[in-house]
Amino acid sequence: MISNPLRPIYDLANEYTSKRTFPDNPLYMDVELTNLCNMDCIFCQRQQMDRLLGYMSMEGFTELVKQSQEAGVKALRFVGWGESFLHKSIMEMLKMVKDAGMMTHITTNALLIKDDTIDKLCEVGEANLLDSVIFSMQGLTEEEYFKQRNSKKFHVLKSNILKLVNLRNERNLTRPFIQIMTSTTNETDEEIEKFKEEWGQIVDLVTVGRTWLKRLKGEAKDRVKDLIERSDELARPTVCNEVRYKFSIHWNGNVSACCEDYDDHLKLGNIREQSLKEIWDARHSHALRTLLNNGHQGKFDLCSNCELTQPYRVEDFLDWKDDISDVEVKEMMAFIEESDIRTVNFVPE
Ligand SMILES: C[S@@+](CC[C@H](N)C(=O)[O-])C[C@H]1O[C@@H](n2cnc3c(N)ncnc32)[C@H](O)[C@@H]1O
Ligand code: SF4
Repeated sequence: MISNPLRPIYDLANEYTSKRTFPDNPLYMDVELTNLCNMDCIFCQRQQMDRLLGYMSMEGFTELVKQSQEAGVKALRFVGWGESFLHKSIMEMLKMVKDAGMMTHITTNALLIKDDTIDKLCEVGEANLLDSVIFSMQGLTEEEYFKQRNSKKFHVLKSNILKLVNLRNERNLTRPFIQIMTSTTNETDEEIEKFKEEWGQIVDLVTVGRTWLKRLKGEAKDRVKDLIERSDELARPTVCNEVRYKFSIHWNGNVSACCEDYDDHLKLGNIREQSLKEIWDARHSHALRTLLNNGHQGKFDLCSNCELTQPYRVEDFLDWKDDISDVEVKEMMAFIEESDIRTVNFVPE
């Protein structure tokens, strides 16, 4: 059985979570190579993204890798609000990350992966370019994939997963670690188990989460009307773990506190203007982490309707309490107001 090479990093992140503290630098980062996409999934918040579309430049990426290395970041994961395989330099970028001593990961819809790319990802003798990959689905069946991902190409997703698994195993490689990830609305435990069993015979890990729909507005919301109707209500997490140990980098160098941030709601800075370390240590960044660590999600535009269910809920912190006083909250909100972070009072221009 192949284990996830990024597991030690995630375990370390979980340690910070259970202690409710923060590391001195981001442990890993999610990097959006582009916010363009080859798909039009009905559940995806790309539909209501207002920011410019574009690709990360090689110059910007080179700077990012340099800064990540200097800041002690352990892994760069290619995932954002678009499809990484649309970036023509993706293989070169993976190599740059590996050469800088960090781990690599891609989350992908898989439809653009060509056979020669699969071959390169399983090259023998080369330093493995890819440590881990997540293939994204949605729903548990081909019919549900068609409905939610708006695509009849489930067979391409499946065949690319099989090709990668088979080639890796034929060549006796231990990387990439291969995961399929999906999410559900009202599927039964039995249906979920069946899915896990079937896919568990093929890939290294199967994860089934929830499909988040509450942030969708207007036309996008209309498209998922019946999904919303059939979705069970979920309890809201009270403590946010997302912002605790990582950053999300958008294609233009903007740094966001959260991977859910499709539109720069939680923009902390830009790597062309400040170093990653300066952004991590900035007083508004620290204020945001601390407020979200103490249940103040309701103060922020993006966080106030967050549906991310975390493995660590408030009841898991037996001695959990809001540790900050009203005076401290006021002081922190003053730092936040000076930054680009959108509070609930934010009015679009
Ligand atoms: C935004 S996508 C970007 C990467 C790539 N395009 C893909 O689809 O894998 C990153 C991940 O978020 C998941 N995702 C996006 N919107 C979601 C939602 N509303 N609920 C649950 N997962 C969602 C996708 O399934 C995917 O696994
Ligand atoms: S989930 Fe991924 S593939 Fe689907 S539209 Fe969003 S970014 Fe594109």
